[in-house]
Amino acid sequence: MSTRRPIVAANWKMNKTQPETAEFLSAFLPLLGPACASDVVIVPPFTSVPKASEFLRNHPVVGLGAQNMHPKPNGAFTGEIGAPFLVDLGVTHVVLGHSERRQYFAESDAFINEKVRAALAAGLTPILCIGETLEERDAGRLEAVCRTQLQGGLALVAADAAPKVVIAYEPVWAIGTGRTASPAQAQEAHAFVRSVLADLFGHAIAGQIRIQYGGSMKPDNAVELMAQPDVDGGLIGGASLQPESFFAIIKAAAESVA
Ligand code: 13P
Repeated sequence: MSTRRPIVAANWKMNKTQPETAEFLSAFLPLLGPACASDVVIVPPFTSVPKASEFLRNHPVVGLGAQNMHPKPNGAFTGEIGAPFLVDLGVTHVVLGHSERRQYFAESDAFINEKVRAALAAGLTPILCIGETLEERDAGRLEAVCRTQLQGGLALVAADAAPKVVIAYEPVWAIGTGRTASPAQAQEAHAFVRSVLADLFGHAIAGQIRIQYGGSMKPDNAVELMAQPDVDGGLIGGASLQPESFFAIIKAAAESVA
């Protein structure tokens, strides 16, 4: 058990139009009630953020996330969205460096780092995603890959700003595959991530940083995963698309600190 407050986020990826967003939140928010032992974040696609904001702006429990942002605040960057546009809509969190963006849009650690620092400067909570592919794991490179992504993504982040960052450890081979890391595999990787955070920021600050697990987390495996000492919540894809299954995962996170 840790003293870190869990954080469970719904990464909807490219799913849910505005009406679908309203339908989800109308069903989900009553399940949650007024208090929760876990932070909760809904991360819709950009075009559904305004609709989600109607439900979530200044919500006492549930944050509103974006799936990406550009490091520059504005300017000639066709198709991009900078932090002020997100803040304007009541966005509180931003997912950065997701493996799908690294893979399909060739995002580098240096570019992701610019975004992390811009998010912090704008008062947003960055959720920095890291994780190895199956090929990298099989080649014994899990630690090297995660260390590089953490060092690169968190470069020039001041120690006093670091506790605001959330890390999402998402082994790429577990994303959308139905193949989850075992609780022991997750704990081993999370403990390693925390050791790298300690190298970067010192033990006390590393002990405050929340590390989410992501990759086929579902209601039936969430309890065991969340029970691991260094697992401080989840970044949920497929199972976050239904209010009941997402809520069941939040309950598992809340119980892990009860
Ligand atoms: P799944 O839960 O669908 O495996 O997705 C995980 C993920 O990528 C969350 O960011």
